Amino acid sequence: MREPFIAGNWKMNMTPSQGAVFAASLKDALKGSRTKVMVAVPFVTIPAVLEVLKGSNIIVGAQNMSDQKSGAHTGEISALMLKDLGVNTVILGHSERRAIYGESDSFINRKVLLAIAEGMEVVLCIGETLSEREGGHLEEVLTSQVTEGLKGVSAEEMKKITLAYEPVWAIGTGRTATPEDANDAHAFIRGLVAKLYNEGVAEELIIQYGGSVKADNVAALLSKEHIDGALVGGASLSVEQFLPIVNFGA
Ligand code: PGA
Repeated sequence: MREPFIAGNWKMNMTPSQGAVFAASLKDALKGSRTKVMVAVPFVTIPAVLEVLKGSNIIVGAQNMSDQKSGAHTGEISALMLKDLGVNTVILGHSERRAIYGESDSFINRKVLLAIAEGMEVVLCIGETLSEREGGHLEEVLTSQVTEGLKGVSAEEMKKITLAYEPVWAIGTGRTATPEDANDAHAFIRGLVAKLYNEGVAEELIIQYGGSVKADNVAALLSKEHIDGALVGGASLSVEQFLPIVNFGA
């Protein structure tokens, strides 16, 4: 049985003071919730949010990190810095990193391997653009993103990996994949992981769906066999919208 995992990705929103206020109301709202929840917070906002969320089950994650451990990498943040704060989960390969900042599968793979080597958990994002989907390249794109992104990750280390299937055309657009289309993509990804590893690893793997997840579509998406959670952008920035997503099954 796969435990649902709901993550909010704040992207470049919430200053430290705003994040602290928001985290306090989220902590209050989620009191008693048993769903696995994470908020992925801008780097500088992490300490304030961690402080407020002390004693709660809400995981505080990062949205990115360097592919290098330390050294002359101006403007970068390393796994060691995140761990020192107490952050043990990082989102890698988000489509905005790929599209806006030119991150390639091999670059993302270096980050994945570093995070794993440092004992961190990873939410690895994958997903096709609209033209890739319409051009019939969905499976090809997912195959290369999964294969390249996970290169060198062992079956044992796959316990540290969550995949997030986020069709790029559904992110921030209000256009959600239908539960059936999303489930088909998730089933394909799980099949691929079974081929790359084995059935056991594939069965246990949590695959989140992301792309305009809202209170009114979350239950239909998560009712599907292969959809095990959600990575939520816009709707994670309001407690009123995020709460029913976390409590989708209640
Ligand atoms: P969205 O973002 O929910 O605003 O579409 C999802 C994401 O980018 O993770």
